[in-house]
Amino acid sequence: MDNPEQLGEAVLAEIAAVADLDALDRARVGALGKKGSFTALMKTLGSLAPEERKAFGARINGVKDRLEAAIEARKTALESAAIDARLGAERIDVTLSPRPEAEGRVHPISQTIEEVTAIFAEMGFTVAEGPDIEDDFHNFTALNFPPDHPARQMHDTFFFPEKADGSRMLLRTHTSPVQVRTMQSVKPPIRVIIPGRTFRCDSDMTHTPMFHQVEGLVVDTVTHFGHLKGCLIDFVRAFFEIEDVPVRFRPSFFPFTEPSAEVDIGCSREGGELRIGHGAGWLEILGCGMVHPNVLRNCGIDPEHYQGFAFGMGVERLAMLKYGIPDLRTFFESDLRWLRHYGFLPLDVPTMAGGLAR
Ligand code: PHE
Repeated sequence: MDNPEQLGEAVLAEIAAVADLDALDRARVGALGKKGSFTALMKTLGSLAPEERKAFGARINGVKDRLEAAIEARKTALESAAIDARLGAERIDVTLSPRPEAEGRVHPISQTIEEVTAIFAEMGFTVAEGPDIEDDFHNFTALNFPPDHPARQMHDTFFFPEKADGSRMLLRTHTSPVQVRTMQSVKPPIRVIIPGRTFRCDSDMTHTPMFHQVEGLVVDTVTHFGHLKGCLIDFVRAFFEIEDVPVRFRPSFFPFTEPSAEVDIGCSREGGELRIGHGAGWLEILGCGMVHPNVLRNCGIDPEHYQGFAFGMGVERLAMLKYGIPDLRTFFESDLRWLRHYGFLPLDVPTMAGGLAR
C-alpha cells in the first residue's frame, strides 16, 4: 500500500481500538518505528523524481503529524483511565464498623476498680459515689475527727479560699465522706462500696497529690467484727487470686471506727523480688473497723439498733501489688508505651464468673 492517507486511516483505527498503553506502543512502533509502515514508505521517496518526491514527502509528513497527535491524545486518555481505575480499587469504606482489636487500653486504675467492684457486687454490695469537693462536716466532723485533729491542717488537706461565713470547702482527703452521705440518704440495711478520687497535699516517691480509694460500708441490725473479717478475707483472696494468702488484722486507730484495724497480707521478699503469699513478710493493704457510734449518731442512725463496719483501700497500691508496677508516679504520666504494656483489653471486662484479669 503506497497511499499515505489510506495507510494513515488504518493506523488511526488501530490507535482508537487499543485497550492499554502497551498495545498503543505496539501500534506506534508498527507505523513509525524503524521497521514501521511509514518508515518503509519514506524509504520509497529515493526512487521518485525530484518534484514528485517533494509532494509525496509532504503528504507523508502530514499524515505522520496526525498520527503522532492521535497517539499522544490516546496516551493521555489511557493514563487517566488507569488512575481512575486505581482510585476506585483503593477506596476505603469509612462506614465499616471498627474491629475489636482496636488500639485503646484500659488503665490499670480503672481495671483495678472494676475488679474490686466485681468482687463486692458478688457479695451483694452496690456502688455509691460522692463529690470530690467536700465540706468540713462530711470529710471530718461527721466522721468524729476532733476539732484539732492533725489531718485537718493545711499540711494534709487542700483547702479552698474562705467563704464570707469563714468556712472553707476542701478536696476530700478520703472516700469516707461518702459513708456519711449514704447514711444520711438511705435507710439501713446498707451495703455499698465507694470508688473515687482522693487528694492530699503530699508528693514524693510513694505519694501523689491525687490518688484513688475504694471505701466499703455495711450497716445492719446485727453486724459484728466477724462479718468484717470474713468479708475482707474473702475479698483479699478473690482479688489476688491466691486461695490461701495469709491475712492478718493488726490493731490500729481511725476516729470514725472503733475498734479499728489494718489488714496485712503475707509476702516474701527473697532475692529482692516481692511475692504475695506465704513468706516471712507482711504488706499493709487496707484500713477498717466497726463504725463508731458517734458517726452513726451524726448521720441520724440509732447506734442502739444498728451497727456497721467500714473499710478503705488505696487503688494504686492494690494495682502495683497485683500487676507488679514498680513506680507510683508512672500511673499519671500518660505515657502511651506504659499504657500499652500495663493496660488491659477493653472487651475483657472483669467478672467473678469470667475471671478478673487475663
Ligand atoms: N479513710 C481511711 C483512710 O483514708 C481508711 C478507712 C476507711 C479506715 C474506712 C477505716 C474505715 O486512711
